[in-house]
Amino acid sequence: MEGDSLSAASVSKDLETRFVGQRVIYYRSLTSTMEVARREAQQGAAEGTVILADEQTAGRGRLKRAWLSPRGNIALSIILYPSLANLPSLIMLASLAVVHSIEAATGLRSQIKWPNDVLINGRKVCGILIESDVQGNTVKYSIIGIGINVNLRLADYPEILPIAASLSEELGRNISRLSVIRCLLVAVERLYLALSAGGSIYEEWRDSMVTLGQRVRVKTDQAIYEGVAESVTSDGSLLLRGLDGSLNKIVAGDVTLRE
Ligand code: BTN
Repeated sequence: MEGDSLSAASVSKDLETRFVGQRVIYYRSLTSTMEVARREAQQGAAEGTVILADEQTAGRGRLKRAWLSPRGNIALSIILYPSLANLPSLIMLASLAVVHSIEAATGLRSQIKWPNDVLINGRKVCGILIESDVQGNTVKYSIIGIGINVNLRLADYPEILPIAASLSEELGRNISRLSVIRCLLVAVERLYLALSAGGSIYEEWRDSMVTLGQRVRVKTDQAIYEGVAESVTSDGSLLLRGLDGSLNKIVAGDVTLRE
C-alpha cells in the first residue's frame, strides 16, 4: 500500500495558511526530515517551512529510538521560531493538531498518550519529536517532527505489529496522505497563532489525554516510576501519584499503560 503521490506544490497549492506549509521541500527518500530541517533553520528558513519525505532511511524517534518510515506513511518536519514561554506548549500543539487532522481527514477519533503519542484504540498511530536550539533566553528555532502511519500494512512489520495502528487498517481502505497533511498544517498554524496571541491550549490537551486516571509505568533517564497518572501541568509535565502516595512531577519519559 503506497497511497497517493506527494509533491511540494500539491501540499502548498491554495493551502489556507499564512505561513505554515507555504514553503515545502519534498524528497522521495531522505535519511531524516529532522536533519534537513535543522540545516534549513540554521540558515534562517522562513517560519513554517516544511520538510516532507516519502520515505526516511534513518527516521529518528524520541529517547534515541529509530522510527520506521516506509513509503505510504507521513514523515515531515515543520520549522518554527516560538518564544521561550511558548516552547513547552509545542508538544501540546503538535499532538492536538494531529488529533484534529486525523479526525478532519478520516473521521477517526484518536487520543493522546503523555506526552505526545497519538493512539487509536490504544495503539500508536503517530509519533512526535521536537528538537529546539535554545541559547540563553532565546529560542533559535524549534522543529516539530511528525510521523503518521497512514497506508501501512502492519503485518509487513512484525516489530511494531502489537503496538502500532495505521489509518488504512482502521478504515479498511487507502487514505489520502495529502488531505491529512493539509489538514495538519492548517491545524498547526491555527493552534500556533492562538498560542502566540496569548491563548492556552493546555486544557484541550489535558482533556484529550488517555493516560489520566490510569495505572502507568514511566521510564525516565533516571528511574522507573509506577503509579497513577493523576494530571498534567500547564508546562507539559506529568503528575504521577506513586504507590506510596507521593506525588512526582515528571518532565520527560516514556509511559506504559498498565492493566
Ligand atoms: C517517537 O514517537 O518516538 C517520535 C517519532 C517521530 C518521527 C518523525 S517522522 C518525521 C520526523 N523525522 C524523523 O526522523 N523523526 C520525525
